[in-house]
Amino acid sequence: MGRVEGKTVLITGAARGQGRAHAIRLAEEGADIIAVDLCEDIPTNSYPMARRADLDETVQQVEKLDRRIVALQADVRDRVGLRAAVEQGVTELGGTLHGVVAQAGICPLGTQDAQAFLDAVSVDFNGVVNAVDAALPYLADGGSVIATGSLAGLIAGATDNPSNGFGGLGYSFAKRSVASFVNDLAIVLAPRSIRVNAVHPTNCNTDMLNSEVMYRQFRPDLENPTREDALPAFPAMNAMPVPYVEPEDIAAMILFLVSDESKYVTGMQMRVDAGGYVKLRPQQPTF
Ligand SMILES: NC(=O)c1ccc[n+]([C@@H]2O[C@H](COP(=O)([O-])OP(=O)(O)OC[C@H]3O[C@@H](n4cnc5c(N)ncnc54)[C@H](O)[C@@H]3O)[C@@H](O)[C@H]2O)c1
Repeated sequence: MGRVEGKTVLITGAARGQGRAHAIRLAEEGADIIAVDLCEDIPTNSYPMARRADLDETVQQVEKLDRRIVALQADVRDRVGLRAAVEQGVTELGGTLHGVVAQAGICPLGTQDAQAFLDAVSVDFNGVVNAVDAALPYLADGGSVIATGSLAGLIAGATDNPSNGFGGLGYSFAKRSVASFVNDLAIVLAPRSIRVNAVHPTNCNTDMLNSEVMYRQFRPDLENPTREDALPAFPAMNAMPVPYVEPEDIAAMILFLVSDESKYVTGMQMRVDAGGYVKLRPQQPTF
């Protein structure tokens, strides 16, 4: 028996990166997957989004594990379109959802365009609310809702540093809002024994981190920093001596939270951050 055998899980942003890792890990442990991704660029976001070919690769990887997957192109900002996609996926896979991993995200750093602020909030926060909204009619009692936050979004002076522009401010606002949303939604869904938790990754080795805007955040002293330039600076986020975690490290937490092993774990801010948060000593006495 796999750890999530027989469960059906919706994952937004599943074409690549962490979303694909979650789809594969959950499928390895017996889940069927509804994989949603935009597969198009968002103009204020300077690095490219996934493409249909990426989503197709996720499909292949899950099918290799003999699990079922329905992959759909939809925009998490579009509540009506997302509802239709989720309805289609759930109908094809038996009518019930046991988990939601709302993790589609953008990080439109490096622009003073006000639209970047709104896009970050619309994808990274409204997109989470829309995913829960689309899933709720099908979500079984005892199910699991997981939303992806961010270590950088939670700590002051990281993505919200003025040098990152309005998109960075929007990213931090959205991720703080995700943390708060999860806290209160846990109260609302507890009577149905549905758990609601946030996962906050530190730097994770995906296209979002491996982008020019991120290299510039870590090496503001250079005009056109490369990955090699940024690599020695990445560990500054963490207490442990690592530059980043891998998508599979986050998937391990997602698997635990979707599985019944965490059936009484709710309202939690689960940081997979190599000690990046505690090293700021948030519990240090103030006297
Ligand atoms: N990579 C990091 O260092 C890091 C750190 C902390 C948090 N996160 C968060 O992890 C999540 C996953 O990001 P990732 O690291 O895998 O990066 P990624 O860019 O590889 O993956 C994000 C996915 O979301 C999709 N997406 C973006 N906007 C969408 C929309 N409007 N509708 C549907 N799909 C959309 C993209 O096409 C892409 O496939 C994000 O929420 C991100 O903020 C990432």
